Amino acid sequence: MINRRKFLAGAAASGLTMPFLLKASLAAESGRPLPIPSVVSLDGAGNSIDAIYGSHSFLANGKTRTMGYGQDYLGPVLRMKRGQTSKINVGNKTNNPITAHWHGLHVPGKVDGGPQLAFGPGETWSPELDIDQPAATLWYHSHVHGQTADQVYAGLAGMIIIDDPGAGSEGLPDTYGVDDIPLIVQDKAFNDDASLLYVKRGPSLMHGFRAEKILVNGAIRPTASVPSGLVRFRLLNASNARIYTFRFEDNRSFHQVASDGGLLGAPSKMSSLVLAPAERAEIIVDFSDGKAARLVSLPDANNPMGGGMMGGMMSRMMGGDTGEPEPVTSNDEFEIMSFDVDQQKQGAVQTLPTTFASAPKPLFDEPVRRRRFELNMHTSGGGMMGNMGINDKPMSMERIDERVRLGETEIWEVFANEMEHPFHIHGTSFQVLSHNGVPVDMATTGLKDVFLVNGIAELLVQFNKPADEQTPYMYHCHILEHEDAGMMGQFTVA
Ligand code: C2O
Ligand code: CU
Ligand code: CU
Repeated sequence: MINRRKFLAGAAASGLTMPFLLKASLAAESGRPLPIPSVVSLDGAGNSIDAIYGSHSFLANGKTRTMGYGQDYLGPVLRMKRGQTSKINVGNKTNNPITAHWHGLHVPGKVDGGPQLAFGPGETWSPELDIDQPAATLWYHSHVHGQTADQVYAGLAGMIIIDDPGAGSEGLPDTYGVDDIPLIVQDKAFNDDASLLYVKRGPSLMHGFRAEKILVNGAIRPTASVPSGLVRFRLLNASNARIYTFRFEDNRSFHQVASDGGLLGAPSKMSSLVLAPAERAEIIVDFSDGKAARLVSLPDANNPMGGGMMGGMMSRMMGGDTGEPEPVTSNDEFEIMSFDVDQQKQGAVQTLPTTFASAPKPLFDEPVRRRRFELNMHTSGGGMMGNMGINDKPMSMERIDERVRLGETEIWEVFANEMEHPFHIHGTSFQVLSHNGVPVDMATTGLKDVFLVNGIAELLVQFNKPADEQTPYMYHCHILEHEDAGMMGQFTVA
């Protein structure tokens, strides 16, 4: 907002017509070609990525200081193969402790990269990861307690793709960067000098930090050139707090083929898709008619002060809220990115498969126990400005909250009041049994590791990797400001 006002004043003073200048400024900032992250395949030894400070050109008017794994901003896509051991050296060339948490990976607590595994400047962490799960789109990010929101916002995050050589491509498009394209969606705000704007107080703490510029793979509202045919997008919501409701502006339908834990049993047809922070969805979009398309999203109404006009107004009055992206449709939807079809390029896949034989099925037994997790915006210890927490306890690195038995099946009941919270569990994928008493069909959700809870959810979980007291797993809200404020707990599996 401030940028635009200054800009208009400048345009008027210089005597140029404003429409020309505004258009030029928007063109410089958005509409760049979609960056395709480089890929690092973790087979064999010797792969290293260092967490570094970078300088990245998001805006036309200056460089932004950022963080990244092995590059200026974000990290490469890490590809790992089922049945193999992935070795990686993560160095820390920053001035603060960092971690590399493998979000969605079924690995023991001692290599999970959670808060207990933070390592300092100058140090290197070299975990060995035994890949033992179906093909899926996962991600990695820093996870230092109290600093996760800041570090992920600065850029310490990237995508992971698990390949399953035994299952093959299942008839899906799989040429990376051509018809199999990662889309890492985030929102950011910038100061006038192009530095990142970030606040973690007032409404930005209460509903989580949400900002007015939309980035995909580190570029503001980019444009991708796609072949004529079916194209697979691996969507990752790597935003701190924003919940997207994606739709194509021309209302074309598309098919979801995978969620957090891997493939669905069959493609699921839809025309809009909700994606909460940390969730992933693989979708197949048909571009065979050659028509360009634009992906848009509804604004995020997740607000403890109520959604809509009142909530928005209250939240702006309290300060620390940078506002919503500029709407581009009559439904107030804003733009994520756009797609042009390259008619010279014929897509490799023209027909959608009907089922996926290798889709994960929950082979869980009868549940032997129920646990309750109540997500609290305030805990009783700290008064009005008290910490957030779970079961009235703010996160403590010194306390183990739950002890789970290896291989036992349980039901975790998660309660979220006041607003919606994306609840995440480390070390496994779970099945969603019900949401507010209504059964949830696994055919539509697949296996999950994050579920957006609004009321009461029942999750069927089983842990097959150990996590000891020194390196426990976490469960938490994936609105990163909530997580950092204490809405997290630790558990062992033995
Ligand atoms: Cu995305 Cu505890 O993690
Ligand atoms: Cu995780
Ligand atoms: Cu939350």
